[in-house]
Amino acid sequence: MSQKATNIHPIHDQVIQREAKEKLLKQRAKVFWMTGLSGSGKSTIAIGVENALNKKGYLTQILDGDNVRTGINSNLGFSEEDRTENIRRISEVSKLFLNCGIITINSFVSPTIKIREQARHIIGADDFVEIFINTPLEICEQRDVKGLYKKARKGEIKNFTGIDAPFEAPPTPDIEIKTAGQTIEESVQTALNKILPLIEKK
Ligand code: ADX
Repeated sequence: MSQKATNIHPIHDQVIQREAKEKLLKQRAKVFWMTGLSGSGKSTIAIGVENALNKKGYLTQILDGDNVRTGINSNLGFSEEDRTENIRRISEVSKLFLNCGIITINSFVSPTIKIREQARHIIGADDFVEIFINTPLEICEQRDVKGLYKKARKGEIKNFTGIDAPFEAPPTPDIEIKTAGQTIEESVQTALNKILPLIEKK
């Protein structure tokens, strides 16, 4: 990789402040960070939440592992180092949206406490809302929507979260959604009940 940037002078003063943009959009920006195993339902819930917020007039942006990894992060794999870089870049991108007054809904496995702490640190604790999509491994594996667990069990995918790479559940998430036994609509509603008070402009 290239050297660290030097002689850089970021502009701050001339930039219209976040507050003015939030006023324009009539919303408070936050980063809703969904963490959970592959197949836990992060993306499905993110889409449901985004649709509901859109109907209520909120401007949102979804950032999702599978999408981001085909674009800005297409050069990254699943080693601990690459996952850390994946989450670092996403966090910086989220911060740009945040400063634009836009609500971002992120779904990333983000498997360790350390990696999510990095995200919280970059984004800022006040704006980072951790949502644990808590679906047991057995159920994710049963669903196996993308067929990846099967491949991981056969050893065709290495470092697969939950199989041969760790997933550390968040000990104190801001929001926890236990999807087992719930419909998608119920899970989305649980998330919305917690999200709406945080984004309503006072
Ligand atoms: S993270 O660990 O760096 O946060 P991210 O959320 O971007 O992961 O990507 C996870 C998605 O990539 C999974 O939902 C799955 O579709 C796919 N994937 C491919 N290989 C792996 C792997 N080894 N571990 C986890 N997910 C993987």
